[in-house]
Amino acid sequence: MLDQRTIEIIKSTVPVLQVHGTTITTTFYGMLFENHPELLNIFNHANQRQGKQQTALSNAVLAAAVNIDQLSNILPVVKQIAEKHRALGVLPEHYPIVGETLLAAIQQVLGDAATPEIIDAWGEAYGVIADAFISVEVEKYREAAEASGGWAGFRNFVVNQKVKESEFITSFYLSPQDGGAISSYLPGQYITLRVKPEGEKYTHIRHYSLSTAPGQPYYRITVKREDEADNKPAGVVSTYLHKSVDVGTVLEVSAPAGEFTLDQSIDIPVVLISGGVGLTPLVSMLETLASEQPERKVTYIHAAINGKLHALKGLVEDLVQSQSQLTTYVCYESPNEGDTYDKPGYIDLPWLQKIADPNADFYFCGPTPFMKAIYKALLEWKVPEERIHFEFFGPAGSLTE
Ligand code: HEM
Repeated sequence: MLDQRTIEIIKSTVPVLQVHGTTITTTFYGMLFENHPELLNIFNHANQRQGKQQTALSNAVLAAAVNIDQLSNILPVVKQIAEKHRALGVLPEHYPIVGETLLAAIQQVLGDAATPEIIDAWGEAYGVIADAFISVEVEKYREAAEASGGWAGFRNFVVNQKVKESEFITSFYLSPQDGGAISSYLPGQYITLRVKPEGEKYTHIRHYSLSTAPGQPYYRITVKREDEADNKPAGVVSTYLHKSVDVGTVLEVSAPAGEFTLDQSIDIPVVLISGGVGLTPLVSMLETLASEQPERKVTYIHAAINGKLHALKGLVEDLVQSQSQLTTYVCYESPNEGDTYDKPGYIDLPWLQKIADPNADFYFCGPTPFMKAIYKALLEWKVPEERIHFEFFGPAGSLTE
């Protein structure tokens, strides 16, 4: 328990953190990888380059500082981050390294303004915050290991099918190498792969949503090959999966995780909206709804560039044909001749108002500009926040900035 004085110091540093938050975390990451390069085996280098991870960490630290005397207020956020940490293999022994580096970064950025009293207070506060994360994570590892067919950490899986779904999107079917059972998952959850492509110095970890309904003896992920574009380097892991991984390749996988899941406790209508490869968790939800809640009204809207880049089209059409309460719409940004679609251009509010039910539960996933547009449209339509569910690719961000 922190004393009153420490709490006051922490709270009084919040405005400073707001100004310097991202500089501190950027400095922090520089120091962390300089002194502990082995951690580059865990962190996503691309997210570092784009600054996404710095912002996510800085937001989390700020939220903790604001709530330092009542950390239970941020327990839902802690649980969400802990879920990702568990999937990545973050362990209690990593926390002191992060703590020492964070204090050093605060000291460096704030200079003399970071008095010994402030640094001590932050040292204590970090200890409290780290303990909160560690205890939630210990519980998450336990749950993952004790689930039927479950395991903690990484387990070897063999690729036993590789199926091209569109020009840049391919599915991989993964079964455990030990021949054992696999843990079930909730539609919308992801698994995490750890790979070391030839020539790479470090392992690379990525999360991929499961793209089928649960209940199969395998996990299926559906991955877009991220080629080099607009000064953005090619995706190390997606390129490796597409070009070097084939039937028979063994991949390390950690157990399913994630909080973006379908609420099946209710039977109000559902609207699923996906952009590009963001369709993966939504197709898992769609398949689950078709088999487990066949009376529930479902509208599935997918946005793609054109028909050539539209993955899992046949699968969705087959589902819709067999279930009268499922309706699907397709929106193509730049349709090719011969493409069949319902709307050219982008999804917008007037169109949503024609095809979707405003009293539905809304789920969406896709590239950030797409997500921002959908979120804005739903808020304009006065859909209550509690019926709006979404997931980002990579670290959580903001849809309103
Ligand atoms: C991800 C916060 C400790 C490794 C994250 C995210 C946040 C966060 C907010 C982003 C979650 C998202 O993707 O939405 C924190 C806080 C910590 C802490 C507040 C301390 C109290 C650690 C430690 C490690 C670690 C000790 C291990 C060395 C990671 C990694 C990611 C992550 C690898 C994924 C980010 C990426 O690679 O893009 N953390 N974290 N974190 N954290 Fe932590």
